[in-house]
Amino acid sequence: MMEDLLRQWDGESVLVHYDRPTDAWVFIAIHDRTLGMAMGGCRMHVYSSPADGLKDALRLAQGMTYKWAAIDFPFGGGKAVLAMPRRLEGQDREALLLRFGALVESLGGSYGTGVDLGTTPQDMNIVGRATSRVFGRTPDQGGAGDPGPWTALGVFAGIRAAVQRVMGSPDLDGRSVLVQGVGGVGAPLAQRLAEAGARVLVTDALAERARRVAEQVGGEIIAPQDAYDTECDVFAPCAVGAILNSRSIPRLRCQIVAGSANNQLETEEDAERLRERGIVYVPDFVINAGGAIAHGALEVLKWSRERVEARVLQIGDAVREILEEAEKDGVAPLVEAKRRAERVLEAARQGREEMVAAGH
Ligand code: PHE
Repeated sequence: MMEDLLRQWDGESVLVHYDRPTDAWVFIAIHDRTLGMAMGGCRMHVYSSPADGLKDALRLAQGMTYKWAAIDFPFGGGKAVLAMPRRLEGQDREALLLRFGALVESLGGSYGTGVDLGTTPQDMNIVGRATSRVFGRTPDQGGAGDPGPWTALGVFAGIRAAVQRVMGSPDLDGRSVLVQGVGGVGAPLAQRLAEAGARVLVTDALAERARRVAEQVGGEIIAPQDAYDTECDVFAPCAVGAILNSRSIPRLRCQIVAGSANNQLETEEDAERLRERGIVYVPDFVINAGGAIAHGALEVLKWSRERVEARVLQIGDAVREILEEAEKDGVAPLVEAKRRAERVLEAARQGREEMVAAGH
């Protein structure tokens, strides 16, 4: 299983480590460093098998390559997955994070890590005791903190652009948006949507979390099993991936899918499936780039928060352009977004070849 996954993958390399004390597996996938050092978050999650964790790491790393390229930022695609047999807390968790940090350090700058699903800035503080190649530590430790609110800001801008495209006005007042997963990104997104006057519907695998956020933003709770059948203007997936597939797409009763989750499509064909249903799907790696932009810009490029905010809001412009081009060419927006990313990667490869040819 793992051999097949690796054979089919088109990335550079994967570091695999079995962590005996916790029975967890660590996968660090480096997909493409054409644009710079591989940079992407660290996901801590309970998988049914280590191979499922590896599969996630490979797809997430590829997504990061596209994400950085689509927004033309000087980083490569990589991701880490800590696949745990059960949830880890306290000392076990800390020890695993420290060993993970040592692995990142051993890569000598090929890969930098950060916050992703299941990890927090506090976790990054621990990782940071073993390596300097870490983003998203708490501000008192010199980090940029939680990327979630930045990602949410970009998703919000992207939703407005898509609503403008489909409904003729970006105004969210009275529009219904179903947020699937109200964690690090979904919660601040729900907040922004509510402030903009949207009717917010929230659903979450953790009932307690759904209740808390619904209360905070004055939203309605939808049971997880009803998420795909609920009528809404915008469906915003902000939890795990692969939720858009041949089973869920026929059920959808929305006009737009635009959310922060990575790898929302189970397969590439699902983009076409959505298009055939007349649903506008905003490619995940474009609309969810806000956290990546913010962390790259704040911690590496040392931009001011004002400059970062303006750059994150440009996600709205990118979404508008992609939807326009896709419609003009009669293709799914995913196809257009990938073309955009490929253009940037190709130009970088070309530039590098020219440097070599010129003897630099
Ligand atoms: N993990 C988030 C993402 O996938 C944000 C992030 C990106 C954090 C890159 C660190 C580095 O976009």
